[in-house]
Amino acid sequence: MLSSTGSLVASLWAGLHLWTLLLAAVTFLFLIDYLKSRRPKNFPPGPRRLPFVGNLLQLDVKQPHLGVQQFVKKYGNIFSLNLGNLSSVIITGLPLIKKVFTQMEQDILNRPVTLIRERISKNNGVLFSSGQTWKEQRRFTLMTLRNFGLGKKSLEQRMQEEAHHLVEVIKEEKGQPFNPHFSINNAVSNIICSITFGERFEYHDSQFQEMLKLLDEATCLEGSVMCQLYNIFPWIMKYLPGSHQTVFRNWGKLKSFVSPMIDNHRRDWNPDEPRDFIDAFLTEMTKYPEKSTSFSEENLIWTTLDLFLAGTETTSTTLRWALLYMALYPDVQEKVQAEIDRVIGQMRQASLADRESMPYTNAVIHEVQRMGNIVPFNGPREVSKDTNLDGFHLPKGTIILTNLTALHSDPKEWATPETFNPEHFLENGQFKKRDSFLPFSMGKRACLGEQLARSELFIFFTALMQNFTFKTPVNEKLSLKFRIGLTLSPVSHRLCAVPRL
Ligand code: HEM
Ligand SMILES: *[C@@H]1O[C@H](CO)[C@@H](O)[C@H](O)[C@H]1NC(C)=O
Ligand SMILES: *[C@@H]1O[C@H](CO)[C@@H](O)[C@H](O)[C@H]1NC(C)=O
Repeated sequence: MLSSTGSLVASLWAGLHLWTLLLAAVTFLFLIDYLKSRRPKNFPPGPRRLPFVGNLLQLDVKQPHLGVQQFVKKYGNIFSLNLGNLSSVIITGLPLIKKVFTQMEQDILNRPVTLIRERISKNNGVLFSSGQTWKEQRRFTLMTLRNFGLGKKSLEQRMQEEAHHLVEVIKEEKGQPFNPHFSINNAVSNIICSITFGERFEYHDSQFQEMLKLLDEATCLEGSVMCQLYNIFPWIMKYLPGSHQTVFRNWGKLKSFVSPMIDNHRRDWNPDEPRDFIDAFLTEMTKYPEKSTSFSEENLIWTTLDLFLAGTETTSTTLRWALLYMALYPDVQEKVQAEIDRVIGQMRQASLADRESMPYTNAVIHEVQRMGNIVPFNGPREVSKDTNLDGFHLPKGTIILTNLTALHSDPKEWATPETFNPEHFLENGQFKKRDSFLPFSMGKRACLGEQLARSELFIFFTALMQNFTFKTPVNEKLSLKFRIGLTLSPVSHRLCAVPRL
């Protein structure tokens, strides 16, 4: 009897144990997932999450910065969203954003590290790093940018020369429809390249064009579904093909573009006469015993790549929005040109000193940045120790996203939030600064290239407006649709650059 029961159990077990094991494994995974993602006490409210993917499926991947107003309505100016395995809090509205960047500043200086980032750059560089590495790399980068011309005449001249090259290459199009993407990218990138590498690249340099394409692709794909999935299920995704693999491959190639340049610098390096950022970094590396600071080969590569990344895509995307808006708003374009003709004329190029006397052009550039809104959630930050905000508890590790889209389109702050309107930045014909305009963020971890970016935008934009009128190609339609990547950028389009003289 006993033995027959035993064999029954044994056979049942034999048939079931595989399923049981599987079931147990799945239950275990759900349990872990549940425990990991339980909301801490007094955490900001938010929509219910699904196992593993959190609220990811509730966001529209094509436009994650839009379409969740219902959450703000329901939960208020601070609510939680679970992005895969990242527990984040979205902050809306100027008062709360200011509070975050002032009162909480010290506790939100870190960047969160997604698994995909972890694999790409670890804690190296300045853009995605945290802690001591970030502090050292940021301080050094700011100082070196200043030494190599930020706010100096030499850099301004370099920008003017580059603007001239850009005008020449666009002239070659003879007013016919063309896609301005890569020539603008190249021109903008040349400014940061001349600071970091000490050289600019010809617009027909195929290797450099290839690098810009790789960078564009890598940053664009980092927001893709496959990359999100990698962040949640790295152990499976690692083996699957898809856009995450392209991202890894591209960054590998980008690194192998920078490495030989560093070797070249080493070869004819003179510590007494640093020529550029890489030279200065090499000098810094010799100052300290190995491993006592972050001034290592890896950080040299990554900080250089970070400057290349942050200094190219952002400014170039903004300029592309600017030309698109000019083609769509010919009356605004005419007013910019009238101001240029009045203040600068046709005999010389604009200089930074002209900005003061060109309130309209300045307002247009600001309005392009407001509408373009290229970094919609600002740089993500991570809470580095348990804190409170507005009565809510934010445990260490919570991700803070500030909704700049909401700020830049707040009907309380802007007369015509949804319409391109340079008057937002004008008062009695004078330029007017606006508090609710934060495209470069604020505080200690704000954009370190703001001054550089604003100078570039002014010099390039005025040079283009001085020489061309941008128009919609006949029989084509321009749209304000965007593509999402590291930044929100206009979808691929063509323009006609009709010479003015
Ligand atoms: C229109 C152009 C630009 C825009 C809209 C922009 C915007 C931003 C934003 C929103 C951040 C995140 C700040 C935060 O987390 O609070 C940032 C960071 C950064 N930007 Fe820019 N940026 C622009 C151009 C540039 C340029 C030309 C450079 C080149 C030097 C640059 C270098 C950086 C770096 C290195 C960081 C990381 C700073 C850190 O983490 O400490 N940016 N930028
Ligand atoms: C950010 O603000 C915009 C504009 O108000 C809104 O449409 C969007 O849903 C908000 N996104 C999040 C995640 O709060
Ligand atoms: C283009 O602009 C430059 C100044 O940036 C000016 O010297 C030149 O005459 C302009 N060329 C044309 C064709 O308008």
